[in-house]
Amino acid sequence: MEKLVIRGGKPLKGEVSISGAKNAVVAIIPAVLLVKGKCRIENVPDISDVESILTMIKYLGAKVDRIDLNTVDIDCTTLDTHIVDKELAAKMRASYYLMGALIGRFGKAVVPSPGGCNFGVRPIDQHIKGFERLGCVTKCDDEGVVSIDASGLRGNDIFFDVVSVGATINVILAAALAPGKTVLENVAKEPHVVDLANFLNSMGANIRGAGTDVIKIEGVPELHGGVYSIIPDQIEAGTYMSAIVATGGDAIVKNIIPKHMDPISAKFVEMGAVVEEYDDSLRIAVETPLSHINVKTLPYPGFPTDLQPQMVAVLTTVEGTSNVVEGVWDSRFQYVEQLKKFGTDIEVDGKHAVINGGTPLTGAEVEATDLRAGASMIIAALACEGVTKVSNLRHIDRGYEHIVEKLSAMGADIERIDE
Ligand code: EPZ
Repeated sequence: MEKLVIRGGKPLKGEVSISGAKNAVVAIIPAVLLVKGKCRIENVPDISDVESILTMIKYLGAKVDRIDLNTVDIDCTTLDTHIVDKELAAKMRASYYLMGALIGRFGKAVVPSPGGCNFGVRPIDQHIKGFERLGCVTKCDDEGVVSIDASGLRGNDIFFDVVSVGATINVILAAALAPGKTVLENVAKEPHVVDLANFLNSMGANIRGAGTDVIKIEGVPELHGGVYSIIPDQIEAGTYMSAIVATGGDAIVKNIIPKHMDPISAKFVEMGAVVEEYDDSLRIAVETPLSHINVKTLPYPGFPTDLQPQMVAVLTTVEGTSNVVEGVWDSRFQYVEQLKKFGTDIEVDGKHAVINGGTPLTGAEVEATDLRAGASMIIAALACEGVTKVSNLRHIDRGYEHIVEKLSAMGADIERIDE
């Protein structure tokens, strides 16, 4: 079994370069199915979720050519099927984006239930509501396979009941080629929603307002090929910021969009860390003792839920009581049981965690129970004395490109072993 072995207690220094955004690329690769022509996608992170989604579109008949580690050419001029393989779909959450993409491409789709991190119930009712408002007829069988007949696809107004990244992206995909006008309200505003809209527009779509509460789409008859570069990963950048702060370090986080980091930088500044922004990088450093804070996760531009476990790890190193409220998912504190193995003092009550920080922490044997939980374990391990072993690395591999190399270059003592 592969494990990370981390000998903590060393402040992170130097610099780290941020990769392309996982949650943008896993939407943009399915979006290529809407294009009859060749797309070159640049700044693609070398992570297993990208491998999984590429395997899925290859299965549908797309021609995929890896130009180098971070560049991929995809040609969807000819596709063979609108039916997604069950085992492949179960590998990741973003397989549900194939619904919107196949609706637009074929006017029909058969997509099994998606896999991905387990935060309790993860409904897709808003995706289905959106498709039905666009004239689709949907049915779901006992095994969770969703069949969609989109022969009557046309633009319409949709007001989402909850702010959902997945539903916003999926309905944009379905509406991009739908005849007429679609207006989406109460949409997600995350940077990856904007990136998806920018990708589609650069291939000829007419989508306005992504990044605001209302998105307007004029359906176009077809999209053309082109070249597109994925935005930097806000969550990866925030993860390294957390690791630098938790180790009392001082380092530059490069290749970012500083505006996307504002909700995260604001919390670190509130704690007393130094954050200096430059054009496409920032410096983050600990120069004085940090203060405990309260955090609530919210849809963008709130503090991201995908950085909640990393922030909790940081707060275990800060003297005093911090409160963290999870405002997006029902059940995203399961990893706390693992974090307690370091000697942390955390009480969880539903969607609320109380962290009594500053207790002495020591290395532990822990598990990455999901992707960001894995990042949280690494941060706690880097911050404390002693040796930590982290297992279940498949989750970390899903979303963090070259994490061992990046942390080592900043002075961390971390290696991957086969035990
Ligand atoms: C995306 O998941 C991300 N995944 C998640 O990141 C992230 O945690 C989440 O957005 C919130 O930011 C990808 O982009 C691939 P949602 P998604 O639909 O789209 C409820 C990571 O670590 N909801 O925005 O599945 C839902 O239960 C991953 O990188 C409905 O009620 O999340 C949740 O409470 C983990 N009905 C809230 O909305 C629906 O139809 C937000 O979910 C859809 C969602």
